[in-house]
Amino acid sequence: MTDQVQIQQRIEQLKADINRHNHRYHVLDNPEISDAEYDRLVRELKRLEEQYPQFLTPDSPTQRVGAAPVEAFGVVEHRFPLLSLGNAFSDEELAAWHTRTSRLLGEEQFDLVCEHKIDGLAVALTYIDGRLTTGATRGDGFRGENITQNLKTIRSIPLSVPGDAPPRFEVRGEVFLPKAGFHRLNQERVREGQPPFANPRNAAAGSVRQLDSRITTRRPLDICVYMLGWAEGRPVPDTHWDQLDYLKSLGFKVNPDNVRLDSIKQVEEYYRRWVDDRESLPYEADGIVVKVNAIERQGRLGNIGHEPRWAIAYKFPAVEETTVLKEIGINVGRTGTLNPYAILEPVAVGGVTIKQAALHNEDDIRRKDIREGDRVTVRRAGDVIPEVVGPIPGKRTGEEKEFSLLEKVFDREKGRPACPVCGAEVVRPEGEVMYYCTNTACPAQVQHGIELFVSRGAMDIRGIGESLSATLLAEGLIGNIADLYSLREKREQLVELEKMGEKSVDNLLDAIDQSRDRPLTRVIIALGIRHVGGEMAGVLANHFGSMDRLADTTREELVAIPSVGPKIADSIIAFFQQAENRQVIEKLRAARVRLEEKTAESVPLPLAGQEFVITGRLEAFSRQQAEERVKALGGSVKSNVNRNTTYLVAGADPGGSKLARARELGTKEITEEVFLVLLEEKA
Ligand code: IVH
Repeated sequence: MTDQVQIQQRIEQLKADINRHNHRYHVLDNPEISDAEYDRLVRELKRLEEQYPQFLTPDSPTQRVGAAPVEAFGVVEHRFPLLSLGNAFSDEELAAWHTRTSRLLGEEQFDLVCEHKIDGLAVALTYIDGRLTTGATRGDGFRGENITQNLKTIRSIPLSVPGDAPPRFEVRGEVFLPKAGFHRLNQERVREGQPPFANPRNAAAGSVRQLDSRITTRRPLDICVYMLGWAEGRPVPDTHWDQLDYLKSLGFKVNPDNVRLDSIKQVEEYYRRWVDDRESLPYEADGIVVKVNAIERQGRLGNIGHEPRWAIAYKFPAVEETTVLKEIGINVGRTGTLNPYAILEPVAVGGVTIKQAALHNEDDIRRKDIREGDRVTVRRAGDVIPEVVGPIPGKRTGEEKEFSLLEKVFDREKGRPACPVCGAEVVRPEGEVMYYCTNTACPAQVQHGIELFVSRGAMDIRGIGESLSATLLAEGLIGNIADLYSLREKREQLVELEKMGEKSVDNLLDAIDQSRDRPLTRVIIALGIRHVGGEMAGVLANHFGSMDRLADTTREELVAIPSVGPKIADSIIAFFQQAENRQVIEKLRAARVRLEEKTAESVPLPLAGQEFVITGRLEAFSRQQAEERVKALGGSVKSNVNRNTTYLVAGADPGGSKLARARELGTKEITEEVFLVLLEEKA
């Protein structure tokens, strides 16, 4: 056996093992090896694929990492349309559907399958010869967007299926963001000054429709498959229930709460149980779906318009209520934004009492025509901050007051609008929807900045909450985030503070000490640069490797990074231009907070010492761009093949002499596709 064959076999073995462990971890929730062992397997596979790119295949588990951004998604024609569902809102409507179905079938008894209706987005996954080839959104039902690259980042979606699966088939399912991930993402967005997603469906859709799949890969998306779309080349079971079971055996994630039932009474019981228990589910569900089990019966029933007659959604009661909006209050956010919020007559929505709700900005309030004193509809979607949906104009008495932010914050003594916290001037920059307090030392801004700095996703300093950070500021013990690191010198004063004892002060000081060693990404998040949340911070930490390199970057360098747009670049530049911010960073350095990636010095650039020769035409970028990418990763590009050449990249119409020389010397030849994967992997 040649070496090459042995290596290929090892690669195949690793792929199979990693896929099996992935499935156990992400689909079955039952891992068999530790995370560290898993990482070792992945590292070995990556290394082999780097050395032997000819064995790299698109279904390799290493290909789940995001790829470079695409300009726009391609279009996928669905072989059979992706349908939507008719709705029932009461037992009567459900019974009416059942009676009609029974009449159309000419049968009284037929079994049904009940499933949760997960609030995410529908996708269709096509597998050809055992591999995931296309993943598409529902689109208009007939044509969707090609989001294969993004779906590949979801670990519960198998990239390949066992050899005995049908040679060609399509599976449909719901991609969703579990509640916890949704909640985290929204908190992060609010911190970044971006509007939160209204519900998990929007969040999931926003995540899979990222043009840059490296962003998708950081979002904890999941999937439940809920039907077999079509299959060719091998018979499949003839009931929906058995098909789901079959899909499970092929490695897909099927909802364990699905049931097969015989009567509409049992469906009602299933529905009631989940109306009561829906809060306990890790995802947001807006109802149940009832499906006729036998595929033959489904065929006889057919569709009307976009909806199948063989299935119906029985929706859960809405988590919306109406109440009186007593007043619109204003709070000051971390970046100085004046945020309007609704102060409500307390009302129970889906079992939780709500007293306040979000109002996004003045334009939004005007557009929805929300007035103080209005009766309004409020909605709570899962764990998100409740929001005011809109007014009920029919209930107006004429006493309601239209909202003007500048009037609200008008200070009579000063004769001008003023920040409600510090009294500074208020501005609305051109093109922005928010008003801002102009004082960067505004106590509200500083306090929110400290809250962000110590938060879990940032420096994770336990023991400092809203009230302690307010006290520390008010007592003059700290004036900015860097001052946290000199609190040890003020131990005596800390112990004196109300509700603080020796023990809790020591715990706090220890927690502060430990935070000095956080990864660079966390430190970047903690600085609270506008528009830079967790995902962007990760991109920046990766690219720059140290705070100093980031601080000294240029706008050009920033916008050249895929996924950094002009708005983010401007914000980063503006942040580091401010002397106070530079001072804070110097103080952090003096306090021995780590400001670079741990591995930055010890690990050479990933393509260091590797020489590339390019021949023929490249599709994805110009020669010059290709050279820049290689150089950025430490490699070099030469014009002729010699013994030192690591790779010959052969584009379209390659030059014969270079190819011949490479073959003579046994130089590795790679296609543009493999070259791209290589650059992507190393970036
Ligand atoms: S069956 C023809 N099952 O609900 C059957 N859909 O309004 C159509 N959904 O676009 C889909 N959970 O995105 C089905 N268990 C489930 C579902 C489900 C969520 C979504 C799906 C579809 C929409 C229909």
